[in-house]
Amino acid sequence: MRYCTLGDLTPGMVLGRSIYDASGRLLLNESKALDDRFIKRIEELGFSGAYIDAAGFEAVDPPEVIDPALRARTQAILVESFDTLANISSVLEDVNFSELTSFDSHPELHKMLSVGKIQGQINQIIDDLMDSYTIELPCLLLKSQGRLLVEHSTDTMLIALLIGLNFKFVYRELKQLGLAAMLHDVGKALLGTAGEPPIGPDHPNYKDHPATGGIILLESGTNHYTECAAIQQHHERQDGKGFPNHLIGYNKSPEQSRTYQSGTIYRMAEIISVADAYDTLTSGIYAAPLSPEEAIKTLIKRSFFEFNSYVVNMLAQVVQVFPVGCHVEIVKSSDPTYQNYCGIIKAANTENAHQAELILTDDPYGKATKPVLLSLSGDSSAQLKLLL
Ligand SMILES: [Fe+2]
Repeated sequence: MRYCTLGDLTPGMVLGRSIYDASGRLLLNESKALDDRFIKRIEELGFSGAYIDAAGFEAVDPPEVIDPALRARTQAILVESFDTLANISSVLEDVNFSELTSFDSHPELHKMLSVGKIQGQINQIIDDLMDSYTIELPCLLLKSQGRLLVEHSTDTMLIALLIGLNFKFVYRELKQLGLAAMLHDVGKALLGTAGEPPIGPDHPNYKDHPATGGIILLESGTNHYTECAAIQQHHERQDGKGFPNHLIGYNKSPEQSRTYQSGTIYRMAEIISVADAYDTLTSGIYAAPLSPEEAIKTLIKRSFFEFNSYVVNMLAQVVQVFPVGCHVEIVKSSDPTYQNYCGIIKAANTENAHQAELILTDDPYGKATKPVLLSLSGDSSAQLKLLL
């Protein structure tokens, strides 16, 4: 199969992967032929494209981080919680969020989250990742722009878990990291308005969302102090210029052996901060989306003083910058015959991302070619560019 952007989808194309809406409902089953109505529906739901079965590309099988149905069920629970929070936001006009330390004066805000249900889904996801030995991050292309906060929360959780797995976190730590990453922006759901896009840095209460998020979790009748700390510190920076408490970091590895020093950023918050930033940059939440490679380069530049450099380095090892199923252009190769040809990645190369295996699709003039297999393995001058 191959990934087709929205503009390239035409009636009669056959879906390679099922599409779920952000509430977990199966929208279109794989193997289903598209018609105008379905293409319109994909667009309305905010998807940028879909995987399509295509002759010559049968060998291309993009890996999923987790089972799409499990992801859909998880998102459905999150949608429920976020909607509840967004719907009560209008009755909280008298609340000064920046001075909020508990919801004692607002008993209606107690137990707002189904933490047990959310944790149950995260445990299943961790089991899935451990069973399949998934330690790499393939493409997270199928993101519905229609439910950005839920999609972003789920992807931040998956990225954080993959980083945690690679740092050899034990099961208990992964459960805490997963829950905190999933709920890192839950404060935005309460501070925002139902039906509106999530609040951004220009919102007057934006800087209150980490603290508010931590309180929502604690007031949900749980003892998740570790997760609360991680949520409340996910916008702190290594140089102390973050918010809300200007904590500092020493760019130390976030492994369990690290001892906690007061006034410093909690190690799980450092992982969530990097996962959050990577997903924000690649999904174009506040600006035009960057390719995985550009996003990694950006984070490397911002590491040390902003992001924990150990965590950024681990992310760089985890992310597949040219994921299977993606459309790329051969910018350079030792054999000039294929210069500026385009193709679909068939197999990623973990050692050197540019030396991937691809199936050619178009010549330099945009004319479709026969789907020929081309391996750039061992070609040290190979340079690819992601086309999205
Ligand atoms: Fe945030």
